[in-house]
Amino acid sequence: MTNYEIAVIPGDGVGPEVVNEGIKVLRAVEELYDGINFEFVEIDAGAHVYKEKGYEILPDDFERCRDADAIYLGAIGLPGVNRPDGTIVGSEVLLALRFKLDLYVNLRPIKLYPGVKTPLADKKPEDIDFYVVRENTEDVYAGIKGRVREDVACDVKVTTRKGAERIIRYAFELARREERKRVTCCDKSNVIGSCAFFREIFTEISKEYPEIETDYAYVDAITQWFVRTPEWYEVVVAPNMFGDIISDLGAAIAGGMGIAPSANIGDEHAMFEPVHGSAPKYTGQYKVNPVAAVLCTKMMMDYFGRQDVARLIDQAVTEVLREGKVRTYDLGGNSKTYEVGDAIVKKMKELYE
Ligand code: IPM
Ligand code: MN
Repeated sequence: MTNYEIAVIPGDGVGPEVVNEGIKVLRAVEELYDGINFEFVEIDAGAHVYKEKGYEILPDDFERCRDADAIYLGAIGLPGVNRPDGTIVGSEVLLALRFKLDLYVNLRPIKLYPGVKTPLADKKPEDIDFYVVRENTEDVYAGIKGRVREDVACDVKVTTRKGAERIIRYAFELARREERKRVTCCDKSNVIGSCAFFREIFTEISKEYPEIETDYAYVDAITQWFVRTPEWYEVVVAPNMFGDIISDLGAAIAGGMGIAPSANIGDEHAMFEPVHGSAPKYTGQYKVNPVAAVLCTKMMMDYFGRQDVARLIDQAVTEVLREGKVRTYDLGGNSKTYEVGDAIVKKMKELYE
């Protein structure tokens, strides 16, 4: 019997609604597979907690996240709940988990499922299927920042050799594992020094993977190539901020934020969260798409080395999306969040042999 302890942070806005559906899916996994057991430790954290109590997460709860086998997070942040410097409340949860648990990989699959519409004319599911590998602990997120003068603010863009090496190596290892033929380095090395350093290290590491093709793209150019020829891309590795931006673009071409999952992975810990935010205007309406949150559970099972379970979740999602009978408003339907979760669970049980 393998027991997985999952720290669950439903968070703000629609976070709890979508996380519920992911938990439903994991409960179904427990039912179907002898020997898998989940223990969910629910943690109240985020902007709504800050508003009420003045802190974002209790130190003890943060330690529970550290102790868990994985963290499952809904969404963090609410409009108008800001720090004195204008940045969002939520960084003590989301960014702190990424930094303090050293989750240096932010893996964001960009995949168009059959039955889902892409805004790109003439592109088919086989044309949009790649990974954004976003560095997750450096760059302008490193926190070296300030109002250096009354009239000047700055954020220092940091790339360390260690930070670049490990994310670039992860991208190449992913390509090898997934039998992808090409890794693209996305940067702005024609202008930014830390990016030139990132690119230099990319070229160095690529030599360890002679069977994988290398490719280089400036971040401004890649935004048009994602739209024009997404079929070119297999694995794209980028520094933190550019990875943040291009992964939203990637989600959009693959059918929207409602189906885009992500995994924050380090050597010791991992956290799974949908790419979408807290969507406060939809809170409590059970309108939003839980597929992103459900696909996070698929990534979690992959991380646990249970590719068989991951495959089942993915097949169930694929079928439900392909059939298109149960789908939320973003995909042109009017199903409720929980109806989509129920349909996925039902499909899992049908597909399981
Ligand atoms: C994301 C989000 C976060 C980020 C914000 C909410 C801090 O945009 O996960 O992509 O910038 O990383
Ligand atoms: Mn983002």
